[in-house]
Amino acid sequence: MSALTAIIGGTGLTSLSDLVIEKRESLTTHYGDPSSDLMFGKLHGHDIVFLARHGDPARVPPHRVNYRANLWALKTAGVSSILAVAAVGGITPAMAPSKIAVPDQIIDYTHGREHTFFADNLRHVTHIDFTHPYTPLLREKLLASAKLAGIDVVNGGVYGCTQGPRLETPAEITRMERDGCDLVGMTGMPEAALARELEIAYACCAVVANWAAGKQAGEITMEEIEANLRQGMADLAGILRHWVES
Ligand code: HPA
Repeated sequence: MSALTAIIGGTGLTSLSDLVIEKRESLTTHYGDPSSDLMFGKLHGHDIVFLARHGDPARVPPHRVNYRANLWALKTAGVSSILAVAAVGGITPAMAPSKIAVPDQIIDYTHGREHTFFADNLRHVTHIDFTHPYTPLLREKLLASAKLAGIDVVNGGVYGCTQGPRLETPAEITRMERDGCDLVGMTGMPEAALARELEIAYACCAVVANWAAGKQAGEITMEEIEANLRQGMADLAGILRHWVES
């Protein structure tokens, strides 16, 4: 099995325009079907695999993503590191809309998701270490790529993962801020933990789509989310150009 890098694209990234697709594989796993075909190809001359987390077109909501099938399919394809791209809401002042953050911690507020491979037919009970939920070396690579691209990303932050698909109430965001969350998203878990269970290196590029509920006057609109994601994804494309080289 060869070492291969994958990009999991989230909201606003159902396909990578710079990816020259060489092969699409529709895999199934004993956990079910991944969200999309695996797209194998070259990004700026380097082999990568792309998976659309919400499907392409995007129809799978965060709480229905089959995270186990996605991770298992990538592992089966020989993937040894994953860059997870995720749209998030910004809670703390540095996390302004259209910014990119590379979080370093997670708090999991999700429930009822299939969140582990270590449940059935075990030879022994297994607990993964999750002190560093994002692989430090991969985070460093991402930060170095952003620097080369001249894009000012936020180094670190706590990603709070909510169940969705609804956005949060301001009271929930206030509680999350008290807990120490800087960012709020709906897909970071169990994805990161499943990657660790399969010993796949994993880091997250969190693109801030909006101020979290209650952090600006008025309601959150899909129009503002889309406009901020367009800007953030353009910056991400610049980072990826350097990232595949490293
Ligand atoms: N909350 C949760 N997930 C999100 C948000 C948000 O405000 N924005 C984009 N994804």
